[in-house]
Order: sequence, then structure tokens, then C-alpha cells
Amino acid sequence: MKIIGINGSPRGERSATLQLIAAVLEGAKEKGAEVDVVNLIDLDIRFRNACSACFQEGRCAEEDDFPKLYAKIKAADGLVLGSPVHIDQITGQMKLFIDRMADGIQCQAFTGKYGCSVSTSGDHAEQAVVGYLNHFLQMLGATPVGGVGVATGKDPDALARAKEDAHELGKTLAEAIRTRRQYPEVEAFHRRFQEKFKAVITGAKPEWPGDYERWVDQTWVW
Ligand SMILES: Cc1cc2nc3c(=O)[nH]c(=O)nc-3n(C[C@H](O)[C@H](O)[C@H](O)COP(=O)(O)O)c2cc1C
Repeated sequence: MKIIGINGSPRGERSATLQLIAAVLEGAKEKGAEVDVVNLIDLDIRFRNACSACFQEGRCAEEDDFPKLYAKIKAADGLVLGSPVHIDQITGQMKLFIDRMADGIQCQAFTGKYGCSVSTSGDHAEQAVVGYLNHFLQMLGATPVGGVGVATGKDPDALARAKEDAHELGKTLAEAIRTRRQYPEVEAFHRRFQEKFKAVITGAKPEWPGDYERWVDQTWVW
């Protein structure tokens, strides 16, 4: 079982958010997972120009670090997303990574995988970020199992307590992967989302043959 953490903080190794991600991964490791972590700030991930080569051919036209990272996370069973709050939302680094994964949403590329999200803030919006990151996981077809958000500026002990919660979250994530745990509300979301994209993909078959083939391969359209 492989679980990968993705840290969207530009502070990289000095990041408080990375401490939460590390705690999740430590909990998962105790339950038998093989873990790895990536600081997005260390990678060359560029803006794209909405060329839609990925929709047409199933591959990215940009030769930066994204294609390799995407292959790495697609080979994993679980994903831990983490971002600090920057101006009430995820960081630019995390948003850039997410926008590069639009094809992953259309292809529901993370169906059957699990994930969770963490966030730190000075004093607000950390829960909104956790909610957004988990929503993104659902959009990819994955199943989020929970999240931890903490405002570090309010209380000097808050981060230490949140790390304990994150450690438990890691165990939950690994157990969910091992037992293929079902979450009825997430299943319902996936059914609704799949209906929506089935119509999109079928309608765009001539323009997006790569994505259409993926749906046929999965027997989601025939
Ligand atoms: C550019 C920038 C914007 C920020 N915006 C917010 C904000 O809107 N709300 C908040 O509570 N904290 C905000 N913060 C504080 C960070 O969210 C907080 O320090 C966080 O724990 C940093 O995590 P990191 O060490 O993982 O980067 C901001 C920090 C920076 C650098």
C-alpha cells in the first residue's frame, strides 16, 4: 500500500503544514503503508495554456516535472493533500498542481483510491481549505476519509494537538484503503458526478478521443 503526501506550502521543509502531513504519513506507516512526501515548491510545475492535449491524447504537452509527479500519484493507493491558508484559500502552488489535473477529473483517474487533507492557518479559513481539498479528491473519483485543520496563531499548543489528530487520520486512511471502506455520501457524490461527466465525455467524443477511450475502457460508456 503506497501513500503520498503533497505539500503546497512555499516554505517547503520549514512548513507547519508539512508537519501535519508527516504526522498523517507516520500514522499510515504504523498501519503498514509505504509513504513518501513531495514539496511542490521543489518542483518545476508551470502554468499551462488550456491547450487540452491531455483531453485529446491523455498526456501533457508540457515537459516540466508535472507528468512524472502525476504518474507517481496515479501509482499510489492514497493521497494526503496539505496546504496552508494564503488569503483565505489554498496556495498558488497547490492551485497550479490542481489545475494541471483537470484531465484526472474528466477521466475519474483516482477511482478506487483514498485520500485526506490537512491545512494550517494563522487564525482562520483552515477548515475551508480542508473542505476544498477533500472536494477536489472526490472530483478525481477518490474517497476522502477526513481532514485536520488548525489555526496555529491562536494557541501555541494547537499544532501539537492537531498532529495527534493527523496521526490518527493516517491510521484511518490506511485502514480505509486496506478494507476498501465505503462512505455512502461519497458514493452518492461519485454517482452524480459520473452521470454529469458521462454526458460531457460522450458529447465531446470527437474532440477528446483520449478521454472517451478511457471511459470505454472502464465500461462507463459503451
Ligand atoms: C501570503 C500569505 C497569506 C496568508 N493568508 C492567511 C489568511 O488568509 N488567513 C490566515 O489565517 N493565515 C494566513 N497566512 C498564515 C499562514 O496560513 C500560516 O502561517 C500557516 O501556518 C503557514 O503554513 P506553512 O508553514 O505550512 O507555510 C498567510 C501567510 C502567507 C505567507
